[in-house]
Amino acid sequence: MDRSLFVLLLLSGLFWGSSSLSRPYHYINIAMSWPEAQSYCRERFTDLATVDSMDDVNRLVNKVDAGYSGSVWIGLKRGTQKRWGWSNGENKTSPYFNFDSGQPDAEGDCIATYSGAWHDARCSHLLYFTCYMGNTSYLIQIYKNWTDAQSYCRQQYTDLPTIHNSEENNQINQILLPGYYTWFGLFLDSWEWSDKWSRFFRHWAAGQPSQSSGTGDCVGMSRNNSGRWSQYSCDLKQPFICYGDDMRKQIVRLKVTCKEKCALKEPSLQTVILNEISEKLKNTMLESDSKISWRTGEDGVVFHQQNNHMGNQDNKCYRHL
Ligand SMILES: *[C@@H]1O[C@H](CO)[C@@H](O)[C@H](O)[C@H]1NC(C)=O
Ligand SMILES: *[C@@H]1O[C@H](CO)[C@@H](O)[C@H](O)[C@H]1NC(C)=O
Ligand SMILES: *[C@@H]1O[C@H](CO)[C@@H](O)[C@H](O)[C@H]1NC(C)=O
Ligand SMILES: *[C@@H]1O[C@H](CO)[C@@H](O)[C@H](O)[C@H]1NC(C)=O
Repeated sequence: MDRSLFVLLLLSGLFWGSSSLSRPYHYINIAMSWPEAQSYCRERFTDLATVDSMDDVNRLVNKVDAGYSGSVWIGLKRGTQKRWGWSNGENKTSPYFNFDSGQPDAEGDCIATYSGAWHDARCSHLLYFTCYMGNTSYLIQIYKNWTDAQSYCRQQYTDLPTIHNSEENNQINQILLPGYYTWFGLFLDSWEWSDKWSRFFRHWAAGQPSQSSGTGDCVGMSRNNSGRWSQYSCDLKQPFICYGDDMRKQIVRLKVTCKEKCALKEPSLQTVILNEISEKLKNTMLESDSKISWRTGEDGVVFHQQNNHMGNQDNKCYRHL
């Protein structure tokens, strides 16, 4: 490529963090079974809706037609194995466990701490529980089952607490009352997202998910019930919500300066520039299946000549291609 060609990329918001994904949701008002809905979403968008936070729940609820009070499919489905997850959505990446000897003994899918030693228990047990907000944990001396404790924490605080290491375990231990089993955020989860998303945020309705089999392997959410989730038979035909990857579409303005005459209107030159950028980006941030293209203005032209002098460029970013 012509060395005299300098390209000025005006990058705006080209970077995004996977931690702050804000998936665009699309409500599809066609009654389909869960597998049909999954195919539909995968063809036209990315997948059936994955939900990560109360913020997502609220956005989903607002997508559903106000007049529709039934349930709509989201991307959650019963998985093939149980996995450890945290109530606040984190998956259990840290190897830290502090089970009492002989524990867990498959008594149940929710975990309580007893003076810092962990026990698995049926989620329906009524126990004291802990909530956290910021980096402080609080003991709540009200007997609740695990799900109700989770709802309480999400309403009054942030969530049931996560324990990553012995230091955090000791911190929580300090607020516990001796002789009381106390819920915290660890649980065994049997469900997985259609897009294999590995985080564990769950927003079940009261009494859900049911432990008994035959109660439905696919999950719908109800606008009626503050976006809470329930199990349904996957054959049930109902509307659904997809999420799309529109958020990955970024429009970047490009300023090209030529030292000598350059024919930017030449489609072949435009292709050359595009390929150069594509190569550069592939090496830095774009995934391999990303596509870039020129965007034409209303007049059908890609580049528009700018005649004035380039003024202050101090805080702009130059890329030599
Ligand atoms: C949803 O709410 C409306 C009004 O509150 C009620 O009439 C309807 O029966 C509810 N539907 C379901 C499925 O709960
Ligand atoms: C809470 O965490 C933040 C950031 O991790 C830290 O700056 C702050 O000192 C912590 N507060 C307490 C009370 O430990
Ligand atoms: C937990 O999340 C990490 C990173 O997000 C991922 O690499 C890992 O596979 C996940 N673990 C499970 C059990 O899904
Ligand atoms: C927790 O208690 C609520 C009533 O407060 C009940 O509807 C729900 O089914 C219980 N959940 C479990 C897992 O037992």
